[in-house]
Amino acid sequence: MIKIKSNFSLKRLNTFGLSVTTKKFVKINSVQEAIELIKSGKLDSEKKLVIGSGSNLLLTKDFDGIVIKINIGGIHVVKEDDAHFWVKSGAGVIWQELVESCIKANFGGIENLSLIPGTVGAAPIQNIGAYGVELKDTFEALEAINLENGEKKYFKHQECNFGYRNSIFKNELKDKYLITNVILRLSKEPELNISYGTIQEELKKLGKTAFTIRDISDAIIRIRQSKLPDPEKVGNAGSFYKNPVISMDLFQAIKKTYPDIPYYEQPNNEVKIPAAWLIEQCDLKGTCHNGAAIHIDQPIVLINKSNATGQDIKELSEFIQKKVKLRFGILLEPEVRIL
Ligand code: EPU
Repeated sequence: MIKIKSNFSLKRLNTFGLSVTTKKFVKINSVQEAIELIKSGKLDSEKKLVIGSGSNLLLTKDFDGIVIKINIGGIHVVKEDDAHFWVKSGAGVIWQELVESCIKANFGGIENLSLIPGTVGAAPIQNIGAYGVELKDTFEALEAINLENGEKKYFKHQECNFGYRNSIFKNELKDKYLITNVILRLSKEPELNISYGTIQEELKKLGKTAFTIRDISDAIIRIRQSKLPDPEKVGNAGSFYKNPVISMDLFQAIKKTYPDIPYYEQPNNEVKIPAAWLIEQCDLKGTCHNGAAIHIDQPIVLINKSNATGQDIKELSEFIQKKVKLRFGILLEPEVRIL
């Protein structure tokens, strides 16, 4: 029997640690349970929110619907050829547990994504990325259940429309599917990606020239732990904004006043600018608004400093957007989902 709870606190289920409740709550432990629940009709006419570990969510008010927490586990090799292993993981597996299993087994491809908070099922929704690698680089397919009719559907790589922190599941298919399993294609002879400057600096400290995926993972864990607040200690949801992609013309105009502006060239004559830099230029590092604050070391991260409400964080975000827009003419787009 699947148990639906009423008036359930989400405080432990969102990494901002916000005290909000949901009208109804259910935990799903298997694909079968997900299908059963949807086909039972108990979700009909309810607003539905599927969550993993709530690490990309800003809840500004109580949720007037049903929150479905995915708890589907299991990590298995499902296929192998000369060069690759295909690994299938339950959507409820903690992302870092999958990364760690792959590193232990010497399966390469996701070591740069070490220590990203969240679950495996949430990873494709925003095509998680860090240090020059994105989920899409190893993604093979996923299995999902249609929230309307309980039908199973497989999505191959091309069907997910992956982009920078984006996929079909944030657009046309938003809130339409519940992801149950993800399959990744990992390498037997990993090609290491150490292009990102800070990784190279960190690896230099090891005093060797050849590196393993364990070295990369350890280096990234050290970098992340030194820069990003641990959500267990200080409520946050990682990068609050996407790094904006702007036209070359706007970039050139800004560069006249700010010759040191950091940037990453993109296809189509566009340029990606670090949101952290834009916020820092507006002298906003460390700014507080009620219990919410801009992280002092990494201003793309907003934190729950002391008993903030979701509304405090939202207002702080709007203030940042206003300041950055005024100075640079760029609208920062939130990466987190605001509800
Ligand atoms: N910067 C500043 N001031 C600061 C911090 C950074 O000006 O206080 C500038 C610097 O120029 C720096 C640049 O911002 O070189 C980039 O900073 P960082 O390497 O910390 O990365 P980011 O662009 O802020 C992105 C991802 C992160 C990911 C890192 C590492 C997005 C929205 N964020 O952050 O992802 O871990 O790169 O690859 O693309 C997340 O999505 O939640 C996340 C943490």
